[in-house]
Amino acid sequence: MSLLKVNDLKVHFPIRGGFFKRVVDYVRATDGISFEIEPGETYGLVGESGCGKTTTGRAVIGLNHVTSGEILFEGKDIAKLRGKEKRLHTRDIQMIFQDPYSSLNSRKRVLDIVAEPLRNFERLSPDEELSRVQALVERVGLNPEAVYRYPHQFSGGQRQRIGIARALTLNPKLIIADEPVSALDVSVQAQVLNFMQDIQKEFNLSYLFISHDLGVVQHLCDRIGIMYRGRLVEEGLAEDIYENPQHIYTKRLISAIPEMDPAKRLEKTHLRQAIDEEYYAGYEQSFDENGRLFDLKKISDSHSVSTP
Ligand SMILES: Nc1ncnc2c1ncn2[C@@H]1O[C@H](COP(=O)(O)OP(=O)(O)OP(=O)(O)O)[C@@H](O)[C@H]1O
Ligand SMILES: [Mg+2]
Repeated sequence: MSLLKVNDLKVHFPIRGGFFKRVVDYVRATDGISFEIEPGETYGLVGESGCGKTTTGRAVIGLNHVTSGEILFEGKDIAKLRGKEKRLHTRDIQMIFQDPYSSLNSRKRVLDIVAEPLRNFERLSPDEELSRVQALVERVGLNPEAVYRYPHQFSGGQRQRIGIARALTLNPKLIIADEPVSALDVSVQAQVLNFMQDIQKEFNLSYLFISHDLGVVQHLCDRIGIMYRGRLVEEGLAEDIYENPQHIYTKRLISAIPEMDPAKRLEKTHLRQAIDEEYYAGYEQSFDENGRLFDLKKISDSHSVSTP
Protein backbone atom coordinates (compact mmCIF):
# COMPACT_ATOMS: atom_id res chain seq x y z
CA MET A 1 0.00 0.00 0.00
CA SER A 2 1.20 3.50 -0.77
CA LEU A 3 2.03 5.73 2.17
CA LEU A 4 0.24 8.63 0.51
CA LYS A 5 -2.26 8.43 -2.31
CA VAL A 6 -3.73 11.67 -3.61
CA ASN A 7 -6.77 11.19 -5.81
CA ASP A 8 -8.09 13.92 -8.10
CA LEU A 9 -7.34 16.62 -5.54
CA LYS A 10 -8.87 20.04 -6.14
CA VAL A 11 -8.26 23.16 -4.10
CA HIS A 12 -10.16 26.18 -5.41
CA PHE A 13 -10.02 29.61 -3.78
CA PRO A 14 -13.03 31.91 -4.20
CA ILE A 15 -12.48 35.30 -5.83
CA ARG A 16 -14.95 37.84 -4.43
CA GLY A 17 -16.00 40.98 -6.20
CA GLY A 18 -18.64 43.65 -6.57
CA PHE A 19 -20.55 45.49 -3.92
CA PHE A 20 -21.83 42.41 -2.09
CA LYS A 21 -18.46 40.63 -2.17
CA ARG A 22 -20.12 37.73 -3.88
CA VAL A 23 -18.02 34.88 -5.24
CA VAL A 24 -17.45 35.81 -8.87
CA ASP A 25 -15.00 33.09 -9.81
CA TYR A 26 -12.42 30.67 -8.43
CA VAL A 27 -8.65 30.39 -8.55
CA ARG A 28 -8.20 26.73 -9.46
CA ALA A 29 -4.85 26.51 -7.70
CA THR A 30 -4.87 22.69 -7.64
CA ASP A 31 -7.24 21.34 -10.23
CA GLY A 32 -7.46 17.57 -10.21
CA ILE A 33 -4.10 16.03 -9.48
CA SER A 34 -3.31 12.45 -8.47
CA PHE A 35 -0.06 10.88 -7.30
CA GLU A 36 1.26 8.28 -4.89
CA ILE A 37 4.27 8.13 -2.62
CA GLU A 38 5.72 4.84 -1.40
CA PRO A 39 7.47 4.41 1.97
CA GLY A 40 11.05 5.65 1.74
CA GLU A 41 10.46 7.29 -1.62
CA THR A 42 11.21 10.87 -2.67
CA TYR A 43 8.58 12.34 -4.97
CA GLY A 44 9.34 15.67 -6.63
CA LEU A 45 6.56 18.12 -7.45
CA VAL A 46 8.06 20.57 -9.90
CA GLY A 47 6.68 23.52 -11.83
CA GLU A 48 6.88 27.25 -12.30
CA SER A 49 5.87 29.84 -9.72
CA GLY A 50 2.13 29.95 -9.10
CA CYS A 51 1.34 26.52 -10.59
CA GLY A 52 -0.09 25.22 -7.29
CA LYS A 53 2.75 23.32 -5.63
CA THR A 54 2.49 24.91 -2.19
CA THR A 55 -1.30 24.74 -2.31
CA THR A 56 -1.05 20.99 -2.94
CA GLY A 57 1.49 20.46 -0.14
CA ARG A 58 -0.51 22.51 2.33
CA ALA A 59 -3.66 20.57 1.46
CA VAL A 60 -1.93 17.28 2.19
CA ILE A 61 -0.85 18.46 5.63
CA GLY A 62 -4.27 19.94 6.34
CA LEU A 63 -3.41 23.65 6.14
CA ASN A 64 -5.66 24.22 3.10
CA HIS A 65 -9.27 23.26 2.78
CA VAL A 66 -9.90 20.62 0.12
CA THR A 67 -12.53 21.43 -2.50
CA SER A 68 -12.79 17.81 -3.64
CA GLY A 69 -10.78 14.64 -3.97
CA GLU A 70 -9.13 12.20 -1.59
CA ILE A 71 -5.92 12.30 0.41
CA LEU A 72 -5.31 8.76 1.59
CA PHE A 73 -2.57 8.50 4.19
CA GLU A 74 -1.90 4.88 5.09
CA GLY A 75 -5.27 4.15 3.53
CA LYS A 76 -7.30 6.65 5.56
CA ASP A 77 -8.85 9.66 3.87
CA ILE A 78 -7.49 12.59 5.85
CA ALA A 79 -9.15 15.18 3.59
CA LYS A 80 -12.43 14.47 5.37
CA LEU A 81 -11.17 14.64 8.94
CA ARG A 82 -11.48 17.74 11.12
CA GLY A 83 -10.04 19.11 14.33
CA LYS A 84 -8.46 16.77 16.82
CA GLU A 85 -9.01 13.65 14.76
CA LYS A 86 -7.19 15.27 11.87
CA ARG A 87 -4.28 16.30 14.10
CA LEU A 88 -3.92 12.76 15.35
CA HIS A 89 -3.88 11.28 11.88
CA THR A 90 -1.52 13.84 10.44
CA ARG A 91 1.15 13.75 13.14
CA ASP A 92 3.16 11.46 10.88
CA ILE A 93 3.28 14.19 8.22
CA GLN A 94 5.47 17.23 8.83
CA MET A 95 6.47 20.17 6.69
CA ILE A 96 9.68 22.09 6.07
CA PHE A 97 9.02 25.55 4.71
CA GLN A 98 10.51 27.58 1.92
CA ASP A 99 11.85 30.47 3.93
CA PRO A 100 13.87 29.68 7.06
CA TYR A 101 13.87 33.39 7.95
CA SER A 102 10.16 33.76 8.44
CA SER A 103 9.02 30.21 9.17
CA LEU A 104 10.57 30.12 12.64
CA ASN A 105 9.03 32.20 15.40
CA SER A 106 11.69 34.81 16.13
CA ARG A 107 10.62 35.37 19.73
CA LYS A 108 11.02 31.73 20.72
CA ARG A 109 14.16 29.89 21.70
CA VAL A 110 15.22 26.94 19.59
CA LEU A 111 14.21 24.68 22.47
CA ASP A 112 10.61 25.88 22.32
CA ILE A 113 10.51 25.87 18.53
CA VAL A 114 11.74 22.30 18.21
CA ALA A 115 9.73 21.02 21.20
CA GLU A 116 6.43 22.53 20.10
CA PRO A 117 5.16 19.53 18.07
CA LEU A 118 6.19 17.27 20.99
CA ARG A 119 4.20 19.34 23.47
CA ASN A 120 1.09 18.93 21.35
CA PHE A 121 1.27 15.17 21.46
CA GLU A 122 3.38 13.87 24.32
CA ARG A 123 3.71 14.64 28.00
CA LEU A 124 7.40 14.74 28.77
CA SER A 125 9.15 16.11 31.84
CA PRO A 126 11.26 19.24 31.16
CA ASP A 127 14.42 17.13 31.45
CA GLU A 128 13.20 14.47 29.03
CA GLU A 129 12.10 17.16 26.62
CA LEU A 130 15.44 18.95 26.82
CA SER A 131 17.43 15.82 26.13
CA ARG A 132 15.18 14.85 23.20
CA VAL A 133 15.53 18.31 21.67
CA GLN A 134 19.28 18.47 22.27
CA ALA A 135 19.78 15.09 20.62
CA LEU A 136 17.86 16.30 17.55
CA VAL A 137 19.68 19.60 17.41
CA GLU A 138 22.98 17.73 17.50
CA ARG A 139 21.77 15.33 14.85
CA VAL A 140 21.14 18.21 12.46
CA GLY A 141 24.69 19.39 13.06
CA LEU A 142 24.29 22.17 15.64
CA ASN A 143 25.79 22.55 19.08
CA PRO A 144 23.48 21.32 21.90
CA GLU A 145 23.84 24.78 23.48
CA ALA A 146 21.98 26.13 20.44
CA VAL A 147 18.68 25.24 22.15
CA TYR A 148 19.00 28.36 24.33
CA ARG A 149 19.45 30.74 21.42
CA TYR A 150 17.02 32.54 19.11
CA PRO A 151 16.58 32.13 15.33
CA HIS A 152 18.24 35.45 14.42
CA GLN A 153 21.48 34.17 15.96
CA PHE A 154 21.84 31.57 13.20
CA SER A 155 22.72 31.61 9.51
CA GLY A 156 20.15 30.69 6.84
CA GLY A 157 21.51 27.16 6.48
CA GLN A 158 21.51 26.67 10.25
CA ARG A 159 17.97 27.96 10.48
CA GLN A 160 16.84 25.48 7.88
CA ARG A 161 18.48 22.75 9.99
CA ILE A 162 16.43 23.95 12.97
CA GLY A 163 13.33 23.67 10.77
CA ILE A 164 14.37 20.12 9.90
CA ALA A 165 14.95 19.25 13.59
CA ARG A 166 11.46 20.52 14.36
CA ALA A 167 9.98 18.43 11.55
CA LEU A 168 11.76 15.34 12.92
CA THR A 169 10.63 15.62 16.56
CA LEU A 170 7.61 13.38 16.19
CA ASN A 171 9.40 10.80 14.06
CA PRO A 172 7.22 11.43 11.00
CA LYS A 173 6.82 9.09 8.04
CA LEU A 174 6.38 11.79 5.42
CA ILE A 175 8.05 15.18 5.20
CA ILE A 176 6.74 17.78 2.81
CA ALA A 177 9.71 19.95 1.91
CA ASP A 178 8.50 23.10 0.18
CA GLU A 179 11.48 24.65 -1.65
CA PRO A 180 13.63 23.97 1.42
CA VAL A 181 16.82 25.35 -0.11
CA SER A 182 15.70 28.04 -2.53
CA ALA A 183 16.29 30.85 -0.01
CA LEU A 184 19.83 29.61 0.69
CA ASP A 185 23.19 30.32 -0.91
CA VAL A 186 24.11 27.87 -3.63
CA SER A 187 27.07 26.67 -1.54
CA VAL A 188 24.80 25.86 1.41
CA GLN A 189 22.06 24.31 -0.73
CA ALA A 190 24.08 21.16 -1.48
CA GLN A 191 24.93 20.70 2.19
CA VAL A 192 21.30 20.86 3.28
CA LEU A 193 20.18 18.55 0.45
CA ASN A 194 22.87 16.00 1.28
CA PHE A 195 21.90 16.17 4.90
CA MET A 196 18.25 15.58 4.02
CA GLN A 197 19.28 12.47 2.10
CA ASP A 198 21.30 11.19 5.07
CA ILE A 199 18.43 11.51 7.52
CA GLN A 200 16.03 9.98 4.99
CA LYS A 201 17.73 6.61 5.36
CA GLU A 202 18.25 6.95 9.08
CA PHE A 203 14.63 7.88 9.86
CA ASN A 204 13.08 5.91 6.98
CA LEU A 205 11.39 9.03 5.64
CA SER A 206 9.39 9.66 2.50
CA TYR A 207 9.68 13.11 0.98
CA LEU A 208 7.29 15.17 -1.04
CA PHE A 209 9.87 17.56 -2.40
CA ILE A 210 8.51 20.76 -3.92
CA SER A 211 10.67 22.85 -6.25
CA HIS A 212 10.42 25.19 -9.22
CA ASP A 213 13.80 23.99 -10.42
CA LEU A 214 14.38 20.62 -12.10
CA GLY A 215 18.12 21.17 -11.57
CA VAL A 216 17.81 21.17 -7.78
CA VAL A 217 15.87 17.92 -7.52
CA GLN A 218 17.87 16.02 -10.15
CA HIS A 219 19.85 13.80 -7.78
CA LEU A 220 17.21 13.62 -5.11
CA CYS A 221 13.95 12.29 -6.49
CA ASP A 222 12.93 8.76 -7.34
CA ARG A 223 9.88 9.98 -9.23
CA ILE A 224 8.77 13.41 -10.40
CA GLY A 225 5.44 15.02 -11.25
CA ILE A 226 5.59 18.10 -13.48
CA MET A 227 2.89 20.57 -12.52
CA TYR A 228 1.47 23.29 -14.71
CA ARG A 229 -1.52 25.52 -13.98
CA GLY A 230 -2.89 23.31 -11.22
CA ARG A 231 -2.51 20.04 -13.15
CA LEU A 232 0.13 17.39 -13.76
CA VAL A 233 1.41 17.42 -17.34
CA GLU A 234 3.89 14.59 -16.95
CA GLU A 235 4.92 12.06 -14.35
CA GLY A 236 7.61 9.42 -14.28
CA LEU A 237 10.76 8.02 -12.78
CA ALA A 238 13.53 10.62 -12.59
CA GLU A 239 15.19 9.00 -15.62
CA ASP A 240 11.93 9.17 -17.64
CA ILE A 241 11.72 12.89 -16.96
CA TYR A 242 15.38 13.80 -17.54
CA GLU A 243 16.27 11.34 -20.32
CA ASN A 244 12.99 11.09 -22.17
CA PRO A 245 10.79 14.13 -21.49
CA GLN A 246 7.61 14.12 -23.57
CA HIS A 247 5.57 17.20 -22.75
CA ILE A 248 6.86 20.44 -24.23
CA TYR A 249 6.50 22.10 -20.85
CA THR A 250 8.79 19.48 -19.25
CA LYS A 251 11.32 19.97 -22.04
CA ARG A 252 11.20 23.67 -21.35
CA LEU A 253 11.93 23.17 -17.64
CA ILE A 254 14.85 20.92 -18.52
CA SER A 255 16.25 23.42 -20.99
CA ALA A 256 16.13 26.01 -18.18
CA ILE A 257 18.61 24.04 -16.02
CA PRO A 258 21.83 26.09 -16.12
CA GLU A 259 24.66 24.52 -18.12
CA MET A 260 27.80 24.20 -16.00
CA ASP A 261 30.14 23.33 -18.87
CA PRO A 262 31.11 26.60 -20.67
CA ALA A 263 31.86 24.66 -23.86
CA LYS A 264 28.25 23.53 -24.06
CA ARG A 265 26.63 26.84 -23.15
CA LEU A 266 26.07 28.13 -26.67
CA GLU A 267 24.58 24.84 -27.79
CA LYS A 268 22.28 24.96 -24.76
CA THR A 269 21.15 28.50 -25.58
CA HIS A 270 20.19 27.39 -29.11
CA LEU A 271 18.35 24.38 -27.73
CA ARG A 272 16.47 26.61 -25.31
CA GLN A 273 15.42 28.96 -28.12
CA ALA A 274 14.20 26.06 -30.27
CA ILE A 275 12.19 24.64 -27.37
CA ASP A 276 10.70 28.06 -26.59
CA GLU A 277 9.54 28.38 -30.19
CA GLU A 278 7.99 24.92 -30.17
CA TYR A 279 6.34 25.75 -26.84
CA TYR A 280 4.71 28.96 -28.05
CA ALA A 281 3.74 27.51 -31.44
CA GLY A 282 2.05 24.46 -29.89
CA TYR A 283 0.66 26.11 -26.76
CA GLU A 284 -3.04 25.81 -27.68
CA GLN A 285 -2.71 22.10 -28.41
CA SER A 286 -1.98 21.36 -24.75
CA PHE A 287 -5.57 22.17 -23.75
CA ASP A 288 -8.98 20.65 -24.46
CA GLU A 289 -11.95 22.66 -25.74
CA ASN A 290 -12.65 23.90 -22.19
CA GLY A 291 -9.14 25.25 -21.79
CA ARG A 292 -8.19 22.44 -19.44
CA LEU A 293 -4.98 20.44 -19.65
CA PHE A 294 -5.60 16.87 -20.77
CA ASP A 295 -5.53 14.02 -18.25
CA LEU A 296 -2.34 11.98 -17.92
CA LYS A 297 -2.07 8.93 -20.17
CA LYS A 298 0.39 6.10 -19.57
CA ILE A 299 3.14 5.68 -22.16
CA SER A 300 5.04 3.05 -20.14
CA ASP A 301 4.70 1.36 -16.75
CA SER A 302 6.35 4.29 -15.03
CA HIS A 303 5.76 7.24 -17.35
CA SER A 304 2.58 9.26 -18.09
CA VAL A 305 1.98 12.37 -20.14
CA SER A 306 -0.90 14.81 -20.61
CA THR A 307 -2.02 14.34 -24.22
CA PRO A 308 -5.33 14.56 -26.13
N1 LIG B 1 -5.13 31.45 0.22
C1 LIG B 1 -5.24 31.75 -1.07
N2 LIG B 1 -6.28 32.51 -1.53
C2 LIG B 1 -6.39 32.79 -2.85
N3 LIG B 1 -5.53 32.39 -3.79
C3 LIG B 1 -4.48 31.65 -3.41
C4 LIG B 1 -4.27 31.28 -2.03
N4 LIG B 1 -3.13 30.54 -1.94
C5 LIG B 1 -2.66 30.44 -3.22
N5 LIG B 1 -3.46 31.10 -4.09
C6 LIG B 1 -3.27 31.17 -5.55
O1 LIG B 1 -3.13 29.86 -6.04
C7 LIG B 1 -2.15 29.81 -7.08
C8 LIG B 1 -1.11 28.78 -6.74
O2 LIG B 1 -0.32 29.25 -5.63
P1 LIG B 1 0.80 28.38 -4.94
O3 LIG B 1 1.33 29.15 -3.79
O4 LIG B 1 0.30 27.02 -4.68
O5 LIG B 1 1.91 28.32 -6.09
P2 LIG B 1 3.38 27.69 -6.07
O6 LIG B 1 3.44 26.70 -7.19
O7 LIG B 1 3.72 27.21 -4.70
O8 LIG B 1 4.28 28.95 -6.46
P3 LIG B 1 5.73 29.40 -5.93
O9 LIG B 1 6.74 28.58 -6.72
O10 LIG B 1 5.79 30.85 -6.29
O11 LIG B 1 5.82 29.16 -4.46
C9 LIG B 1 -1.64 31.23 -7.24
O12 LIG B 1 -2.32 31.82 -8.32
C10 LIG B 1 -1.98 31.88 -5.93
O13 LIG B 1 -2.18 33.25 -6.10
MG1 LIG C 1 5.15 27.80 -3.28
